[in-house]
Amino acid sequence: MTAERAWWKEAVVYQIYPQSFNDSDGDGVGDLQGIIERLDYVADLGVDVIWLNPVYQSPQVDNGYDISDYRAIHEAYGTMADWEELLDEIHARDMRLVMDLVVNHTSDDHEWFQRSRRDEDGYRDYYIWREGDTDEDGEPVPPNNWTTGFGGSAWTDDEQVGTQYLHLFHERQPDLNWENAEVRSDIYEMIDWWLAKGIDGFRMDVINLISKPEGLPDGDPDKGWVGIEHFADGPRAQEFLEEMAAETFDNYDSMTVGECVDIDVDTAGDYVSADGPLDMVFHFEHMLLDQQEGWWTIEDWSLPELKSVMAEWQTDLDGWNTVYLGNHDQPRIVSRFGDDGEYREESAKLLATFLLTHQGTPFLFQGDEIGMTNCPWESIDEMRDADATNRVRLALESGDIEDYDEAREVVEFRSRDNARTPMQWNDSRNAGFTDGDPWIQVNPNYEDVNVAAAEAAEDSILSYYRDLIDLRSDLDVLVYGEYELLLPDHETVYAYRRTLDDPAVDVDDVLIVLNISPTATRVSVPVEAEATPLFGNELDTATESGSHDVTDAALQPYEARLYELSEQQ
Ligand code: GLC
Repeated sequence: MTAERAWWKEAVVYQIYPQSFNDSDGDGVGDLQGIIERLDYVADLGVDVIWLNPVYQSPQVDNGYDISDYRAIHEAYGTMADWEELLDEIHARDMRLVMDLVVNHTSDDHEWFQRSRRDEDGYRDYYIWREGDTDEDGEPVPPNNWTTGFGGSAWTDDEQVGTQYLHLFHERQPDLNWENAEVRSDIYEMIDWWLAKGIDGFRMDVINLISKPEGLPDGDPDKGWVGIEHFADGPRAQEFLEEMAAETFDNYDSMTVGECVDIDVDTAGDYVSADGPLDMVFHFEHMLLDQQEGWWTIEDWSLPELKSVMAEWQTDLDGWNTVYLGNHDQPRIVSRFGDDGEYREESAKLLATFLLTHQGTPFLFQGDEIGMTNCPWESIDEMRDADATNRVRLALESGDIEDYDEAREVVEFRSRDNARTPMQWNDSRNAGFTDGDPWIQVNPNYEDVNVAAAEAAEDSILSYYRDLIDLRSDLDVLVYGEYELLLPDHETVYAYRRTLDDPAVDVDDVLIVLNISPTATRVSVPVEAEATPLFGNELDTATESGSHDVTDAALQPYEARLYELSEQQ
């Protein structure tokens, strides 16, 4: 069965982290005019949609995920007029704009929270306040044992109010009370206000956390995020999202992608099936493979495990997939899933192939198209990430670590700052990102890894992305084709087949073979078909007819191959 067509299924999305993309005014922080300056570059990549991380007014405790005014632009990024110009310029290049929607929580600077604190005009109930007990020393005891996504208790005692409020993230990000119908209708009005301005959709921040169960019961203390079984996909999440969709998105030709923490494929289906409220979700199952014991361990992930997660979502989801390997919250993809040393180029191209040939809408993160890597950090003082720095502080306070050196390896790998170092445009000072002092350090490898160098080189990672994005837009089978996993247990080779039952297309059967390892290997792919190289393949093993013998393929380290399959002659 072929999925129903939609523009957002055919789209490739490019994520821009505004703070780190391009600074036009020399204050060290990226901005909207900076993005406009680089829009031709983005359009040349061939992508269709830009997802912009939050640009709303914010004290920037969590880089804009702490919003103090949903209808204003953060000063360092520019003005509403700049934003309108950006939207026009994106549309003028036939691309679309998806904004970030952060409505599980606001900043504590938001007027609603200020009024809630003052118990003004019915605003108290906009957030989740609870009386906790006090211990024998008179210190407040949290109303339950929930922790935040950044570690530590999810409750903060507000001295002004004398009770505690819930925050599933930083203490300056209080959770909104979705049980309150006025909160919901204020939020829907705001969503509608942005849609009416002409945006093309939303990426919805931690959207499956909005419904908290009555009584806020204690969570299983052994879970990495205590309480998650209660607040992820809580009792009214589906209902709230359906209501939101009916009041807002359903009236527009927009796309929605909900970031869903701790979600499985069945629950995701409730949100994204044909009559579900969302178009797509981001799940985390492949992001957790190297941290199954929690944030503080880096485990070796195995390729069969990754394949099995991918294959489950590719084949079992009742709805449309997203395909991503990294974003502003994750390590750089080439450092995590590839090899950021000797095989940086090869493995970055392989990961591009992975992203652009699965079924689902690919989400590319800025800089991955030139193979940007994790950053070598010299000290924790160079880090800005509220998550990593908070965890280190808590671990030091609790005595779990004696000094930072004990945590260094994990923190340097996991810190979200790895993805947030400035975009590397050229080999001039600060990688061409800013004339001023960048808000976060530039990865020192910018002298080699940068856009200008990629433009000048033949066979760059960048040109590979461009060509492959082109190919994907030409080949329906790469968008709508069914997915079949081959060689599920192979330790280093990931092979899958995409087939489309549509007599109108020329290419309806494609084989993708990825050697995700630094070792050359021979592999026999179990397909009985003629395999003709389609993209990026060395033709060294081609037979005279131009076809390859994939029953005995010799693959170089991190080699990626794409074949068209046809019936054997
Ligand atoms: C999401 C965002 C992340 C943010 C968190 C809290 O996971 O992607 O950057 O810190 O939500 O808003």
